[in-house]
Parts: sequence; C-alpha cells; structure tokens
Amino acid sequence: MTRKTVLIPACYVGLAALFLLGSARHVQAQEGGPPAPLNLPTVSFTAAQVTQGRQVYAASCASCHGQNLEGGDTTGPLKGDAFGQNWGGKRVGAAFSFIRTTMPPADPLLISDPEVAQVLAYLLQANGLQPGDKPLLTDNDALASTMIPRIAPPPELVAGAGGPISPRAPKGPSFLGPSPLDKVTPVTDALLKNPPAGDWLLWRRTWEDLGFSPLKQIDKGNVGDLRLAWAWTLPQGPNEATPLVHDGVIFVHSFGDRVQALDGVTGDLLWQYAYKLPVNVRPTVKRNMAIGGNLLFVPTSDMHMVALDLKTGKVVWDHRVDDYKGGLGMTAGPLYAKGKVIQGIAAARVPGGPFIVALDAKTGEEAWRFYTIARPGEPGGNTWNGVPLDKRSGASVWTAGSYDPDLNLVFIGTGQTYDTATLVHPVNQPGITNDGLYTDTTLALNPDTGKLAWYFQHLPDDQWDLDYAFERELMKLPVNGTNQELVVTSGKMGLYDALDAATGKYVFSKDMGIQNVVTAIDPKTGAKTINPAVYPGDGKAHMVCPHPGGGRNWIPSAYNPDTKMLYTPMVESCMDLIPPGPGYPGNLTGAGNWYVRPRPDSDGKLGRVQAVNLGTKQTTWTDRQRAPQTTGMLTTAGGLVFAGSLDRYIRAYDDMTGKTLWETRLSAVPSSCPIVYGVNGKEYLAVVVSNAGSQAGTWRQLVPDIINPEDEGSALWIFALPDKGPVKSSAVR
Ligand code: HEC
Repeated sequence: MTRKTVLIPACYVGLAALFLLGSARHVQAQEGGPPAPLNLPTVSFTAAQVTQGRQVYAASCASCHGQNLEGGDTTGPLKGDAFGQNWGGKRVGAAFSFIRTTMPPADPLLISDPEVAQVLAYLLQANGLQPGDKPLLTDNDALASTMIPRIAPPPELVAGAGGPISPRAPKGPSFLGPSPLDKVTPVTDALLKNPPAGDWLLWRRTWEDLGFSPLKQIDKGNVGDLRLAWAWTLPQGPNEATPLVHDGVIFVHSFGDRVQALDGVTGDLLWQYAYKLPVNVRPTVKRNMAIGGNLLFVPTSDMHMVALDLKTGKVVWDHRVDDYKGGLGMTAGPLYAKGKVIQGIAAARVPGGPFIVALDAKTGEEAWRFYTIARPGEPGGNTWNGVPLDKRSGASVWTAGSYDPDLNLVFIGTGQTYDTATLVHPVNQPGITNDGLYTDTTLALNPDTGKLAWYFQHLPDDQWDLDYAFERELMKLPVNGTNQELVVTSGKMGLYDALDAATGKYVFSKDMGIQNVVTAIDPKTGAKTINPAVYPGDGKAHMVCPHPGGGRNWIPSAYNPDTKMLYTPMVESCMDLIPPGPGYPGNLTGAGNWYVRPRPDSDGKLGRVQAVNLGTKQTTWTDRQRAPQTTGMLTTAGGLVFAGSLDRYIRAYDDMTGKTLWETRLSAVPSSCPIVYGVNGKEYLAVVVSNAGSQAGTWRQLVPDIINPEDEGSALWIFALPDKGPVKSSAVR
C-alpha cells in the first residue's frame, strides 16, 4: 500500500457544509437568497489528470456508478444536477475527503491520494468544468482553500419545494426584530473583576474559578417550577464546553471548532462561525472560550487561537501557536487576564513537553511561554531521575487557570507524567530525584512575563495518573486568626490542598475519603505519605482508588464564598494495576495496565456529590446515587447546587442539606458545566448535553444498566421559571 492510512473524519464534509451557512443569520434572511458563496479560488486541474482519472474511474468506480457516470442499481448519476448540488460551492477538500475515505465503499484505501485527485478531476470535467494548467493538489491547504464552483442546475430543477421565491412575487415585509447583539458592550478588566450578576464571562464565571453565581431568582422555594425555556441542537461530537454569556447573548462552542451566538432569551441564532481545519485533523474537545474587550477567544484543534468579534463572529486575528502535528493539543480553554490570552497545552509524548502560552489579546502575538516540564540544568531539572528532556513527558494542562488581580498571579495546574516507568525506580544518585517537576503541580505565573512566582507539587512521582490538573479556586479563609487568600485544588483522588496564594506555602488539606493512595500528610509541608501497597513496579497487581478516570476528573467543583461551602462531583471507583505480559509496557508504563473496578466495599452507587464547609472542613452532606456524575458543579446565591449525571438527569440540590429539589431527564448526558445567567431580570439555567463526552464514556462498563441513546445527541437546554405568556422568537416579535 503506497498511501498513508490517515483517517479523515467524516465530519469534515459536514464541517464544510457548515461554512456555507455564512455567518449572520439575519443578514442572510434579509438578502432572501441562498447563503453567499465562499470567496475562495476555484479548483484547478489538468487535462492529464482527467485522462488518468477516466482510467481510475473505469477500474474502480464504473461497476457501481455506470460506464458513463449515469448511475447504477444502488447509485445515482455522478454528473448533472445531483453532483452539482452535492459539491458545487463547497471546498474541494470536502469532495476529496469524501471519495478518499468512502469510495469505493469496500476499500477506500484501494486508490491513492493522486488517484483520488485524478478521478475528481474527471468528475469535475464531466460536470462542465474546464481543465487548466495547474493540477489539483492533494495537500491540506490547497484542498481547504479552493472550492468547486456552483454548478448551475437547469432552472426547472431549481423551482419547487426548497427553491427560490418566484421572481414575480412582491417583496414581503421583514419580520426581524432588534438583535441583542446591538446592545453588547465591551468586556473591560473592571467588568471582569466585578461582573454583572447576569453574565458568565469566564469558564467558571469569575477569575476566582468558583462556579458560583449571585443570581437568586431561582431559589429553594421555586426551583421545582423550572421548565424548558428553549433548546438548540448543537453540532455533534463530544461537547464539553461551558457556554459564556454577556449582555443577554449566549456563546457556545461545539465540537469541530464551531461557535454559535444565540439570543439568551429566545434561542434565536445570531451568528455562527466554523474554523477551517486542515482535512487530516480530527477535531478535539474544548472546555471553554474566553471573552476580553470586544473579542471572543477560541482555541482550535490545530493549535491556533482565533479571536472573533463578539458582535459579528468575524475573525479579528488568528494566531498559530505551534505545530499540531507533533502531538500538542488544546483541550483546556483560555483564561483572559490583564490583556493576555493564557492557554494551557496538553501533550502526549512530545519531546520538550507541553507549555502554557500567553498571547497579546489585541494582536494575538505571543508574549511568553512557560514549559511545564523542567529542563535539564534549569530549576527543577534534576527531578527526572536523570533522563534527558526527550524522555520526560506529561505535565499537560487540561483546564483553564484562575487569576488574582491584586497579587497579579495566574494559577494553573498540570497533570501527571505519561511514561511512569521513567520515575518508578529511583536512580539514587545524589542531587537527582524522581519527583518529575512540574507534574501534578500548581504553578503561579506572572501574567505579564510568564515568570514562575512559586510552585507547589501536590503529588511527586505520580505512578497512577492522578492528575492535579483541575480548577484552582481562589478564596479567603481564616488562617491563624487572619483572613488569608488561598488557592484550593484537588486531583483525581478528591484530596484537596489549600495553599497561600501569595507564596504557595501549604496551609491545609481535606480528603473527600475515596482514595487509598495517600495515608498521611505532613501538616507543615503538605508532603504526602504514599501507601506502600499501591506502589507499582514490583511485578505484582495492586488495587488503587481511584482510577485514571478519576474519583473526580476535569468536571470542576463549585464554591460559595458567602457560605464557604465547596461542592465536588465525584465517582466512587478504583482500578487494578496489572503487570502486562513481557514486551508490552501497558497503559501506565511503570505499573502495566489499569482496569476499572468498583470499590471493594461498593454498594453499586458510584455518583457522589460531596459538600464540605471549608471554614470547619467538615462534610456537611453527601449525596450518593447509582449514576456517575458527569457535569461540573454550579452553585448560586439562590441556595442551590446543580449537577448532572450519566442517567441524563440534571438536578438541583438544597445547598445546605443536599435534598434534591428538582430534577429533569434530558435527551443526552449532561456533559459540561451547568451555568445560570440573567437577561432583563429573568434567570436562566443552561446545560450542554452530549453522549460523546469523556465523562459519559468512562463509566459504561461499571453501570451497564444505564443505557443512553447511541447518537451523540449534542444539544443546549435552557430552563427558566414559567412566564406569564409564551416567549416569542425575536423574528416574530
Ligand atoms: C460498490 C459500489 C461502489 C463503488 C465501486 C463506488 N461507489 Fe461511489 N457510491 C456508491 C454508493 C452506494 C453511493 C451512495 C449513493 C449515491 O450517492 O449515489 C456512492 C456515492 C458516491 C458519490 C456521492 C454521490 C454524488 O452525487 O456526489 C461519489 C462522488 C462517489 N460515490 C464517487 C465514487 C468514486 C470516485 C468511486 C471510485 C473510486 C466510487 N464512487 C466507487 C457505491 C460505489
């Protein structure tokens, strides 16, 4: 086989189709016609390609599509109206990747890239296009940046259902109401420091990363009346992004690097944007976007950051952060702080490892980068058991950081190492440790310079994929009589550490009680004592709680600063680490393979929401249920806590007792972080669902009785208290 066996996502075809929707809905509607064609150069191909393509066609396609493209028993014609409607006005890459990945159906790999180009040239000529002197190229850029021109169908085929309005009809009145985009104001730093109660401007609403809203219209007394306000199907795929809300507009990111702006009251589409991804890039999940000034910052699946105009969805700048081909990726979303867009990168096993990058929010230019794996010869560089840089991996960033404007520090966390075998047997040389900095670490960075102010490693030599990579919550708590600013975070163990935000000095820990890895914590330094029974590398099996899916995972906890209550979504589960056969490293290289398993004492309930008062450090309530938790937590000044789970329920709990006050079952698994927002004095609850998100996929084997729809089912659901009358779409207001 001569060609690369790169799989092209079928969704590229759909993605190309989405580009064609254009951006502003009301603009399209005013023009009344089909969306404006793409303004891209037209495809070119040579006569030689057509000749070769005719042969490829005869050998590999004619049996089904007919000797003269006329169609056969199972196929329609490949020339004329149908072909024109399918591919006219689309990117060449859409047709190319369709043929390349699906034709001939029995074995698409049978024909090579150049042959796909040839057969496509042949089809284009058969549909009326003329060959020229430039060949049809097969590289991503050419495929994505050229289009097949609209192939005009005969007029009698355009008339009728779905066709244009009769040229003889009078021009009707416009039914479009005012757009809430007209009232969208810039998001200043002052606004971010003190956001309007109805807005949700950052991943966790504020720089403190709390997932707390001061809205209280929906409260303990009336939450039971919540009902559907509107819903919206999202582009399909694993959708985990938390929507953002500003001035009544909800901005939602979805899989395939797409963004839609919707009227928060009515659900009307205001604009939409689809990033042009190279054809061989599989889109990756994103957890959030950020807003600063007039811009919405969107990380892409090929390592770009794009800034969109909040009001129009038009690209203001597009900055390539790095090469996506090496294994670097963006799953976390950006943090906007002090004129910088700060984005953490994840990397599987990339020499040099991942980094945190800051871009100038106005221009997209890179301001600084901080590598999360300590370099040999630099501070922390001697913590990698003596291995060179290209053997050090991990320390990925999976969620956005938090920011304290008074200290001018950004707090961001990292995950474990991927190659645990590197650290498992200490080399025992003086001056060399196997801690693996900066894995499982809180980093405090100056946003202006990227300089490390302090760090705290929560779990050195992490052999279990326990990822201290999640939200860094900022809060004031009394410590030795004074109110101290703290950074609070936990990894997958559900073992929280609180640090002094100014210095990184250890303050206290709180264990949620679902782990068996740490047996003791030094009250002064926070150093953790590891249970010898879970340490791998001895060739034996070990039972460890939790497993790498997490007692808790990226789905963040929420904290109410008024009540000092912290709410954490968890899943009670463990793993067996089993050494694999010789020659195979296993999915945790130091330990072998991990297999998910219930806790030894499990009663079958896996989902667990735990509420802890961080003032007293006592657990106030715990709600346990069969279904694993799948969303981040939301808490509000209405005395409520919201969370969703694998059984497709979204629930509201009494924040002080844990009593379920409202629940409703959704079409798919709630998969991001629920939020509340307010428009014109009315409070709304929003939640994204998708059966393809990571939390929805991790637990299936443990709960085979919880069966969800097979389709991805991505959608946005909006709930509110009942109105007096029906809420009308602005289009008919
Ligand atoms: C075994 C039968 C079979 C073979 C061989 C085959 N196809 Fe198809 N093809 C289909 C079927 C079935 C469809 C879907 C029905 C339709 O759209 O006509 C299809 C659809 C298509 C379409 C989309 C229809 C449209 O109007 O645009 C294109 C393009 C296409 N095939 C190209 C090719 C090319 C090029 C080859 C040879 C490399 C090929 N096919 C080989 C069965 C086949």
